[in-house]
Amino acid sequence: MKVAVVGTGYVGLVTGACFADLGNQVICADIDERKIEMLREGETPIFEPGLVEMVRINAKVGRLAFTSDVAEAVAKSKVVFIAVGTPPGPDGEADLSQVRSVAETIGEAMDGYRIVVNKSTVPVGTGDIVSQIIAAKSGGAHPYDVVSNPEFLREGSAIHDFMQPDRVVIGCSNPAAADIVAELYGPLNAPIIVTDVLSAEMIKYTSNAFLALKISFINEIANICERVGADVREVVEGVTKDHRINPAFFGAGVGFGGSCFPKDTLALADIAAKAGYEFKILKAVIAVNDLQRDLFVAKIVERLGDLKGKKIAVWGLSFKPNTDDIRESPALDIIRKLLAGGATVAAFDPVASEAAQAELPEIEYVGDAYAAAKDADALAVVTDWNEFKEADFKGLAKAMRQPLLFDGRNIYEPAKVEAAGLEYVGVGRRSGPGAEKE
Ligand SMILES: NC(=O)c1ccc[n+]([C@@H]2O[C@H](COP(=O)([O-])OP(=O)(O)OC[C@H]3O[C@@H](n4cnc5c(N)ncnc54)[C@H](O)[C@@H]3O)[C@@H](O)[C@H]2O)c1
Repeated sequence: MKVAVVGTGYVGLVTGACFADLGNQVICADIDERKIEMLREGETPIFEPGLVEMVRINAKVGRLAFTSDVAEAVAKSKVVFIAVGTPPGPDGEADLSQVRSVAETIGEAMDGYRIVVNKSTVPVGTGDIVSQIIAAKSGGAHPYDVVSNPEFLREGSAIHDFMQPDRVVIGCSNPAAADIVAELYGPLNAPIIVTDVLSAEMIKYTSNAFLALKISFINEIANICERVGADVREVVEGVTKDHRINPAFFGAGVGFGGSCFPKDTLALADIAAKAGYEFKILKAVIAVNDLQRDLFVAKIVERLGDLKGKKIAVWGLSFKPNTDDIRESPALDIIRKLLAGGATVAAFDPVASEAAQAELPEIEYVGDAYAAAKDADALAVVTDWNEFKEADFKGLAKAMRQPLLFDGRNIYEPAKVEAAGLEYVGVGRRSGPGAEKE
């Protein structure tokens, strides 16, 4: 099938590469000429495991092409995916300017029937907006269908998630168009849920809001555990043996970040408010997430006293492992709070330092995790990269000025850390002498 994907970000590029890999003729379009240039040269503008290889192979065999001319991509394709950004506006409302702009180009460039598939996460009702823009720009000259096909991939495992989805959601009022989009996903053998457009748009926000809710919920449980002497890891283990409570997204830590949960929770609260309903639980989810970062920094301040003149080592800058995406990363927020308190920060991340440096130039970036910890008064582990999970605690205790480890993702066993002579502070964990087995 001839497919255009407009927007070559985390979602668009993965979508384009995967559809090409499944045997379709795909053209990816982006207004960012630098990205298109890189892609034409076989490089990817983002880090995502397996992506650069997939892009190169499919480009080489002629199934995947790149253009900065969106109209050209629309003209050459039967199905056009919109995968541009929908960042939050000042009130949390999703900013649809990129989506509108693509819809205008589609309306102007189409020369026959098109299926326009919205993959961006958009407020309920956006399908109608896209449809109206296309009708206005095309003057009603050509037939088209607008489909909502929200994306559920996670950065860091995006190709796996795209190729092995739990389900594919297709929202459309015309069953024939839904069938064509379903055909594209056919080789994946995934359950396909066909709904109306409004429900499909709502499914995406509901999923993200619920996952964010799980995280804030367990974070509050962790905060209570700290106060009553329980250990949240043991609590989670006991709770999730109940088949009704799935362990995914149910670990305590410094809270959620990234380009999706923070903006999508705000956007859904805004959608609800505009529909005349106050989404009270979701507002609390957002507030708890903000609080979680403050509480983490407060623990560091509590142990170190005044942060002035103190050096804090930070491991992890991306909002999650296996990505260079630092959008809304808890790490950056935490670092800013530490700097505001007067600390200096030396940070290490396997891939996200360059992106972080552009946004936060005032800290030291080092190319080695242990070099960051040298002479530090505390080590804060904020992103759970696999390579941090096995650490040389003895070496750290020796290298640091004060042997203090703040585990913002609960990746370590307190007893193991403490046996090496470091003080351990997790999130909702029991620590201190004799804490492991009471
Ligand atoms: N990142 C994720 O993990 C993820 C997961 C599921 C859904 N989503 C949703 O998918 C959408 C895209 O997210 P992303 O992370 O890929 O965004 P992104 O910012 O990485 O990529 C968006 C791309 O669109 C391009 N663009 C903007 N305006 C354009 C235009 N008029 N024409 C052509 N290209 C244009 C930008 O240059 C950029 O390359 C968002 O709505 C997001 O909420 C993201």
